[in-house]
Amino acid sequence: MERSMMTVQRHILEQERTYPQASGDLTGLLWDLTIAAKRISHQVNRGGLGDIFGETGEENVTGDLVRRLDRIAQDTIYRAMDHGGHLCVMVSEESPDLVRIPAKYPKGKYVLIYDPLDGSSNIDANVSIGTVFSVHRRISTAGDGTMEDCLRRGSEQVAAGYFLYGSSTMVVYTTGQGVFGFTLEPSVGEFMLTHERIVTPPKGKYYSINEGNVSGWDEPTKRYVEYLKEKDPATGRPYSLRYIGSLVADFHRTLLYGGIFLYPSDHSNPQKPKPKLRLLYEVAPLAYIMEQAGGAALIGGERALDIQPTSLHDRVPIVMGSKQDVAQYEKFLGESKPVRAAARDGKTDGATKDSKNASTRFNSTSILET
Ligand code: AHG
Ligand code: MN
Ligand code: MN
Repeated sequence: MERSMMTVQRHILEQERTYPQASGDLTGLLWDLTIAAKRISHQVNRGGLGDIFGETGEENVTGDLVRRLDRIAQDTIYRAMDHGGHLCVMVSEESPDLVRIPAKYPKGKYVLIYDPLDGSSNIDANVSIGTVFSVHRRISTAGDGTMEDCLRRGSEQVAAGYFLYGSSTMVVYTTGQGVFGFTLEPSVGEFMLTHERIVTPPKGKYYSINEGNVSGWDEPTKRYVEYLKEKDPATGRPYSLRYIGSLVADFHRTLLYGGIFLYPSDHSNPQKPKPKLRLLYEVAPLAYIMEQAGGAALIGGERALDIQPTSLHDRVPIVMGSKQDVAQYEKFLGESKPVRAAARDGKTDGATKDSKNASTRFNSTSILET
């Protein structure tokens, strides 16, 4: 098919057809999601003409102020996804507990985990924002989905992606067969294939981190960022800083251009380091995409996709991007377990290395060396 005529719906269907046992459910699920995203995109594009700016006056479960658009995006996705029969349960950044499928609707075999609106602090300034999603196949056999269906390692995802509401609206997704990007063609309201098999460059020239937080970083991260700023043309330094403050947008640039994105823990209280980004609906789906594009994603020196969540809103420190850049960061992190554990400090917020993968615990360099 001519590339310019490849819609995201057709693409997902063709990807799913490569599995002989496929039922079309995943295609239906992802298709429903694109409808929700088109509606959110429409609201975003209206900007100040609509009623999306400002706060609702509430705080969500992770302590963030809920903005009007957070609420609109949450409701839009929920209403698009609750009745299709593809899902048994959902998890959202905006809900403290499992998001149930109403009793009157059929339950399906998938779990949807999502960040309805990512980059909330940028909404009112017309800066790129996004939606992140992660899909798992349920473990339970029937009825409502369970907590166990949701608390899954990233490596078990069957699909992941994000919508980027930027200067154009895009969807980027993977089902484990590479990463594909589609751009919303406003004249026909379809996402058309524009980025075939995205591959992250092995090394980049940008670093992306909230440098205002430097006083709280661990020592290896401080030393690494100083290293990136040193002038050494032979190794491509100094790197340039790019930081938008919308994870989806910072990730998308890193995916396409290469380089490194870091959100380390805040060690201001060394007894209780605080990571920020959420494992299930921010880090795991983006780590899956980054690996599928040939990049790497690590949590305290461990492969991010191997980390076992222990609750829905676990937070973790993350480093992801070009393989060589992530490997370079790892050298600063050192090989010692205490240093890695200090950088990960997932225990402070629930996430752990999956014991099922204990034998691969310190093998994360293998994904960097391949
Ligand atoms: P959300 O808007 O979904 O709460 O996510 C905010 C996240 C993420 O988008 C971004 O990478 C990060 O917060 C920015 O945090 P800082 O403002 O602390 O840099
Ligand atoms: Mn977010
Ligand atoms: Mn959000």
